[in-house]
Amino acid sequence: MIKTDARLYGDLKSILVTREQIDKEVAKLGAQITADYEDKDLLLVGILKGSVVFFADLLRAIDLPVKTEFMAVSSYGAATKTSGVVNLVKDLATDITGMHVLIVEDIVDSGMTLSYLSKYLSTRGAASIKIATLLDKPERRRVDLKADYFCFTIPDEFVVGYGLDYDEKYRNLPDIGVLDPRIYNDK
Ligand code: IMP
Ligand code: MG
Repeated sequence: MIKTDARLYGDLKSILVTREQIDKEVAKLGAQITADYEDKDLLLVGILKGSVVFFADLLRAIDLPVKTEFMAVSSYGAATKTSGVVNLVKDLATDITGMHVLIVEDIVDSGMTLSYLSKYLSTRGAASIKIATLLDKPERRRVDLKADYFCFTIPDEFVVGYGLDYDEKYRNLPDIGVLDPRIYNDK
């Protein structure tokens, strides 16, 4: 895995959450979910693509016979603010009737994406729907939405790494950092 002196880190203003902090919180969250979903049919639904790195780590921290699914939505494009319009790009591939669904997301920002997804999944016969997010940016909320599980609350800054992107890049950084504004102002 790349180190923090790797070339890519030169595009960051600062590191906000280190890989060590992430490891610790994801392990704690996995243990919490394991306890909460004991005796339940748990389905983790990862939201592509931002959640994939978090999803892969969280999945391996859950000691249950958990099933997995993925959905994809779009609302951003090459911008650092949401367009407010959420489009379903990839739907579930299986029936979720009677399953306890846990949506796995990278970040709750305006809340529009998860509010749309929760409503959509509630029409599909799930026994319960909850949300686990790596990051929460509460200052920017536009709809009333609270994640059931989260690892870190962060300030209103555009962050990348550990799955989060800017213009599809920086998902491969193992830490979470604030992108240097010159990267998007130069565009
Ligand atoms: P929301 O619908 O505004 O809550 O936005 C959710 C989506 O926006 C997330 O799934 C991310 O893909 C993206 N997003 C929001 N804030 C950031 C950020 O700081 N960095 C990278 N992506 C972000
Ligand atoms: Mg994204």
